[in-house]
Amino acid sequence: MTEVNNYKDTYKQLSKNIRRQLEKLDHLDIYTSRHVHSVPQIVGKICNKLGFEKSEKKFYIECAYLHDIGKIFIPSEILQKPGKLTEEEYEVMKTHTTKGEDFCNSIRALDRYSSAAGCHHENSDGSGYPYGITEVPLEAELIKVADIYDALLNKRQYKEKIEITKALEILKETLIDRHLINSNIFEALLEVILEETELTKEEYIYIVRMKQTING
Ligand SMILES: [Fe+2]
Ligand SMILES: [Fe+2]
Repeated sequence: MTEVNNYKDTYKQLSKNIRRQLEKLDHLDIYTSRHVHSVPQIVGKICNKLGFEKSEKKFYIECAYLHDIGKIFIPSEILQKPGKLTEEEYEVMKTHTTKGEDFCNSIRALDRYSSAAGCHHENSDGSGYPYGITEVPLEAELIKVADIYDALLNKRQYKEKIEITKALEILKETLIDRHLINSNIFEALLEVILEETELTKEEYIYIVRMKQTING
């Protein structure tokens, strides 16, 4: 692993301004706090596989750290609700995108991260939120893959943990089969998992086969 992918180094490279925002997220629920530190690690590893320049990689990692910054504006009874959200609550939860985008735009040092905060739930077929755009910025696509993978694998308050192969199947059906992201990003994630995750022989074979079907 390169330096920037070591967690402590990645975190240390962040500006004081970003770290101050992260502290706010750390004070929210445990899931959100863990998630906002986990997604940048996955994004950094995907960037390595895609061969991005160091400065590009740094930017995408910073974007990933701030992608859910809008959650600081979501009422804790919704953010920390142990059960499934009602339709109304889900609508409020979805505003973490626009609130995060507005927040980034309101601080000069953070305005370059506004698309990451605003667009990471957009889909290139226009089915995402908040705007339903079809031209999804690359930072948002990178975050989306890492975001869904992390959310699937790690237990939220209301959801049990699932097997890695099941998580990848869902991710593939959600993003690849519907052509919602560049398949190279998903392939890079599979390579990272194959190299870094402790897998059973069956899981390893399953992921290798999946990788062959993506771009092969
Ligand atoms: Fe989000
Ligand atoms: Fe997220």
